[in-house]
Amino acid sequence: MNLLSQLKSNNNIIIYGAGKIGHLIDQLCQENGINVSAIWDNNPDKVLEFPEKERISRPPKLSDGFGEHNTTETYPLFNALIIVTMFSADTAIKVADSLRAHGFKNILYERSEISSLLIDHCKTLSQNNQYEFDLDKCFICPARRDDHIECEIFNQQHGVIKKETDEFVSLPVMGFLLTTKCNLTCVGCNHLRDHFDKEDNIDFSKDNILSDLRKLLDAVDFIKSIVIVGGEAFMHPDFETILKKVLSFPKIGFVQIISNGTVMPKGNSVFELLSNSRVVVEISGYGEKPGSARVKKRDKFIKKLSEKGIRFRYDEAAQWFDFGGFHKRSLTTEEFETNYKNCCFVSNDLFNGQLHKCSRSAYGLYLNKINNYENDYVDIRSTETNRLRKNIKDFIKMRPMACYHCNGTTGKTIPAGVQVLKKA
Ligand SMILES: C[S@@+](CC[C@H](N)C(=O)[O-])C[C@H]1O[C@@H](n2cnc3c(N)ncnc32)[C@H](O)[C@@H]1O
Ligand code: SF4
Ligand code: SF4
Repeated sequence: MNLLSQLKSNNNIIIYGAGKIGHLIDQLCQENGINVSAIWDNNPDKVLEFPEKERISRPPKLSDGFGEHNTTETYPLFNALIIVTMFSADTAIKVADSLRAHGFKNILYERSEISSLLIDHCKTLSQNNQYEFDLDKCFICPARRDDHIECEIFNQQHGVIKKETDEFVSLPVMGFLLTTKCNLTCVGCNHLRDHFDKEDNIDFSKDNILSDLRKLLDAVDFIKSIVIVGGEAFMHPDFETILKKVLSFPKIGFVQIISNGTVMPKGNSVFELLSNSRVVVEISGYGEKPGSARVKKRDKFIKKLSEKGIRFRYDEAAQWFDFGGFHKRSLTTEEFETNYKNCCFVSNDLFNGQLHKCSRSAYGLYLNKINNYENDYVDIRSTETNRLRKNIKDFIKMRPMACYHCNGTTGKTIPAGVQVLKKA
């Protein structure tokens, strides 16, 4: 029985976490006539993703004598299947452990299982000719970011068919870094902007980076999404040419551009490119005061995107991860593994001809903050074409030493987007 059939037979579901993934699971249940008995969230007042806020409640206080002594007679939800939908694997594990310690037995919390469930649903819709591709849904779906499973439906939509027996090499996501330049200098930026001296700045040559990308694409079967980023990607003088070329390459799903929203691209033709149905512009918001110069610029950009019918998302963040200094931590093998496994910043970044696991690894090496661990990246530019596929396959499986020089994403946080004060 696949997971979707299990859900149908249980028909008593609790969704824990009313974020984007929680919302997808709720829609899945509705479309399959599955009863959702409760939607729990630790901060129901802060929930943005659910249209019907009245359905969301705080989970019961597990410490208040709740648990072992409860029975399904006193608490009917006790038998429910709880689907824990927090994106952070670490948080999901902690929540599942706590539920288990209080006697709940049916818990689904592993990201790959949740992805499989969503894939099963789309497969069923497709078999019944009811599936309609919706990039906004796929954008937030954890299945397309899963290293371990392939969503055939998503792949087929992009003309990529994987045969059962074939070896398949794909990247769920790949960052394409165009420039180190940025108009802002945020404290704790994961592209290390607050560690740059002026002379370190560079716009990478379009010919070089496009030929790196072409070579990489020749070696793999699919890149589900490419994230064009900087620094601030819109500052690259050849941004338009680069985007046009990226959109013309085969084996790429969709193209995301992440921007702070304060650099307005010049000319109309670039907006025409941005309105391509495979493009999503993501604007990062840093909680600045309404009316501030930054917010005014961002609002102007957002207005233009809306007028042109361009698909965009605005992501407000109050807190960022504190990745910490660059010294080598004395981590046990287990701690190192956990650091990497729980990290939500693995983005396979193509930076100046090198494919790194994350931007910290790429920028850390570029600025000589992290040692040159040669096995941490694939040198796409200098590797012979016939060895590249194997090297990328190995790269997908490996854990970078750079993680010894990082706090990862489960520790301290810092306020998002605070600017470095310029010296007088
Ligand atoms: C490094 S920025 C580059 C793109 C663009 N300049 C921007 O700010 O959107 C890419 C994304 O990383 C996020 N980011 C930067 N530093 C971060 C940190 N320490 N923790 C979490 N997110 C961070 C930003 O909010 C942004 O959404
Ligand atoms: S997070 Fe801030 S400093 Fe870093 S690239 Fe984006 S806008 Fe620039
Ligand atoms: S160095 Fe490791 S833990 Fe730190 S951001 Fe990169 S992948 Fe994550």
